[in-house]
Amino acid sequence: MKYGLLGIGQAGLRHFEAFKKIRNLKLIGFTEYDLKKANKFKKLNNIEHFNNINELIKLKPDFIVIALPHFLRIEPILKCCKNKINLLIEKPLVLNSNELSSIKKYISKKNITHTISFVHRYRKEVITAYKLIQNSKIGKIKFISETMISQKNKSLPKWIDVKKYSGGGVLLYNAIHSLDKISYLAKSKIHEVYAKKININNKIDVEDIISISMKFKNGITAQLIATFVPYETTPKWETKIFGTSGQIDINIRKGLELRSKNKITTYDYSKYYNKNGLNYNFYTQAKSYVDALKKKTQPFIKIQDGINSVLVVDAIYKSININKVIKLKY
Ligand SMILES: NC(=O)c1ccc[n+]([C@@H]2O[C@H](COP(=O)([O-])OP(=O)(O)OC[C@H]3O[C@@H](n4cnc5c(N)ncnc54)[C@H](O)[C@@H]3O)[C@@H](O)[C@H]2O)c1
Repeated sequence: MKYGLLGIGQAGLRHFEAFKKIRNLKLIGFTEYDLKKANKFKKLNNIEHFNNINELIKLKPDFIVIALPHFLRIEPILKCCKNKINLLIEKPLVLNSNELSSIKKYISKKNITHTISFVHRYRKEVITAYKLIQNSKIGKIKFISETMISQKNKSLPKWIDVKKYSGGGVLLYNAIHSLDKISYLAKSKIHEVYAKKININNKIDVEDIISISMKFKNGITAQLIATFVPYETTPKWETKIFGTSGQIDINIRKGLELRSKNKITTYDYSKYYNKNGLNYNFYTQAKSYVDALKKKTQPFIKIQDGINSVLVVDAIYKSININKVIKLKY
């Protein structure tokens, strides 16, 4: 199999390292706007650099990975869909529902297999939590609390602070992963949202703190708080799932704890992460996607999940703007 890569920034390189571990798969070319970066990567890995996606498409790759800034999705998505090329698209699928309407007809066609990089769903601690919930270890879920504390360090790209390029702040760069993850654990779509945003850094036109209350179609309530502060902080990413007979606390990149029947069971994944690295989920995602393409089966994360998340993001911003609860229409 052969694939192409659009953008070799932070995420693009993680995908490259992940797909490199898969046998009989070759990167046949990449696009990258920053020529200095492109030349270095080309020399180091002996991979062809293209000025645009058209030349890459001519080589008929089995799939293309889109790891570009958020505002650059429409053209590659449409070109790949029209040329029947499968896509692994970094989140968010597109900036908003206006953009969504221009691709929806093409992206949902049945004969091509697209996925969206909600890569945290591939984390061992998330998959274990899902299994424990399915095995009725905590009963029926009633409430989920999600806290995501991160720091906007200087090595992050500048475009993420500009709304017309990023579509939004902490919600689109970070918290969208949380929305996907808790929908997966809740096994339900988000039904309504009420949100508030705050700016610590007033010099940027996107939010760096967001607080979202939500209700799922199956009745579960959840609260999400995400921060992306412009100073040093202690990063934390915690999910607490409260069921009728127990609780699961997920600590991302560390492990989880199950409280059930007056017993605490700890799943410590520090050895797993020490051995495989903190971004091992990019590899499990890559493997899962390639397997789906080979076997012609549905990918673990479907493009519909990407579509739904754009609708949820739009509803969240609408709620912030008009200070009202917004019900989702899928
Ligand atoms: N899943 C994750 O954990 C994760 C982590 C980081 C970023 N991301 C996502 O990955 C995507 C990229 O983010 P990033 O942080 O890697 O950004 P980045 O700025 O580091 O990478 C984007 C790259 O695209 C290049 N580029 C810009 N315009 C281009 C064009 N027209 N053609 C070709 N290359 C072009 C830039 O020069 C840059 O190298 C975003 O969607 C982001 O949300 C996901």
